[in-house]
Amino acid sequence: MQLLIVLLWFRHGTPEQVQTTRITKLCNTKDIVTVNGMYPGPVVYAQEDDRVIVKVTNESPYNVTIHWHGIRQMLSCWSDGPSYITQCPIQAGQSFTYEFTLVKQKGTLLWHAHVSWLRGTVYGAIVMYPKAGVPYPFTYPYKEHIIILGEYWLKDVVQLEKAVLASGGGPPPADAFTINGHPGPNYNCSNNDAYKIDVVPGKTYLLRLVNAGLNMENFFSIANHRMTIVEADGEYTKPFTTDRVMLGPGQTMNVLVTGDQSIGKYSMAMGPYMSAQGIPFQNISAIAYFQYLGALPTSLSLPARLPSFNDNLAVKMVMDGLRSLKSGHVPKEIDQNLYYTIGLNVQQCHSPTPQQNCQGLNNGTMAASMNNISFVKPKISLLEAYYNRINGQFTEDFPGVPLKFYDFVNGAPNNSPNNTQSMIGTRTFVLEYGTRVQLILQDTGTVSTENHPIHLHGYSFYVVGYGSGNYNPQTAQFNLVDPPYLNTIGVPVGGWAAIRFVADNPGVWFMHCHFDIHLSWGLASVFIVKNGKGELETLPHPPADLPRC
Ligand code: C2O
Repeated sequence: MQLLIVLLWFRHGTPEQVQTTRITKLCNTKDIVTVNGMYPGPVVYAQEDDRVIVKVTNESPYNVTIHWHGIRQMLSCWSDGPSYITQCPIQAGQSFTYEFTLVKQKGTLLWHAHVSWLRGTVYGAIVMYPKAGVPYPFTYPYKEHIIILGEYWLKDVVQLEKAVLASGGGPPPADAFTINGHPGPNYNCSNNDAYKIDVVPGKTYLLRLVNAGLNMENFFSIANHRMTIVEADGEYTKPFTTDRVMLGPGQTMNVLVTGDQSIGKYSMAMGPYMSAQGIPFQNISAIAYFQYLGALPTSLSLPARLPSFNDNLAVKMVMDGLRSLKSGHVPKEIDQNLYYTIGLNVQQCHSPTPQQNCQGLNNGTMAASMNNISFVKPKISLLEAYYNRINGQFTEDFPGVPLKFYDFVNGAPNNSPNNTQSMIGTRTFVLEYGTRVQLILQDTGTVSTENHPIHLHGYSFYVVGYGSGNYNPQTAQFNLVDPPYLNTIGVPVGGWAAIRFVADNPGVWFMHCHFDIHLSWGLASVFIVKNGKGELETLPHPPADLPRC
């Protein structure tokens, strides 16, 4: 079976076209869905304010969409890409052209498939350079490299999602972690399947780190070298130097590393950050090399030290160091205060074959929710339903606060202590154009507390505060001066995060946990942002080639 997506983009007038892929990893050969035959996929190189046009032709047997993670999509919601939210999937043999402008955006982001778990192999980096003549606000690096962290599965990821959902239980761990698609020497048959950066002694490198994994957050570190974070989620930060970083799926970070150690071969390692209890996970680190010119290729590499898998403090220390480079842009007044809980649930078993279908905790089926409502995908895209006023696909009654307040971290949402059920629905929250929003994201311990990487489409937001336990407005400390401006926030395990944004981009915007398993289980919600009254405040018509369901 040939699996193939052809992606063409036309920037500087040069169409690129390639095809796909049978690959061998971990001594196992299989077909994977790729873009242009590449794994990881091709890099989208662009410049601030560029118009990007990407024609995606689906030559794989699966439904596909591509999401441009972190791109603001100003007035181009139709090109955002989440399936059944802004478009129906591109069916096998069909094409769709994404078109958007990188309004005031620069730095590193990622694109990825947004259907089923296809992101497992369908992902790549987006690199946006500042405009010609505009320097970086840090020492110009000698060279730059893209480092994409991923998870590799021997099983077909679309079948895997189906099987996991049908079982009612949790997902198996990935078969390997990968750095730029390579697992490295800790894995079977992978001694020579390792990524390597050649280092000129004394030079400074810019590493563009991207986490494209499915279901895990990850630590990353380099033996004997420190990293200086200069950008997170495509926004400059004050330089912050650290031994290790943590990236959740969907997060990106630019770091500077200087080759200031003795000539040698150093490991770069990617390992798990698992904050939940009792969940099996891949614990073998992926290894790549940071190798000085002059080092013997046969020399042993110095090992990189990673925090232990449950080191919450290591995560907090990096978060504490993230500050926007510039101050003074945070909304001070708030028009709409929102409070969403995020967490897992167990639903009662309704299957006639519980052994097969109710393998969750207490013989139930696993679910996840925001404000204890598990998101159900509609049958057609919400944006089309909203735009064309098609009834029956969604409701506009997502609650702005939990329907019931209780001890979120230590309690349960329902009266009977063993009842951890959520409601289900395709509920949206409607915002008037220009609304200044504050949203508290509160982790729950209904099943297990966990650090959830929550991503908002179409916006970046200021992370004005975070902490452990239940959010308490009396004691919460906020930074309204220079908080980081992100598109994905790892809400602390058993804790909360407060984010602020101005709803200045009309459309239908998905917000969800960037663990694919949690998204499949319903840890998602939708904002509808209405058109404004002024010029350039109205969402244009849908493109003519918008796929049909
Ligand atoms: Cu990167 Cu809706 O996701």
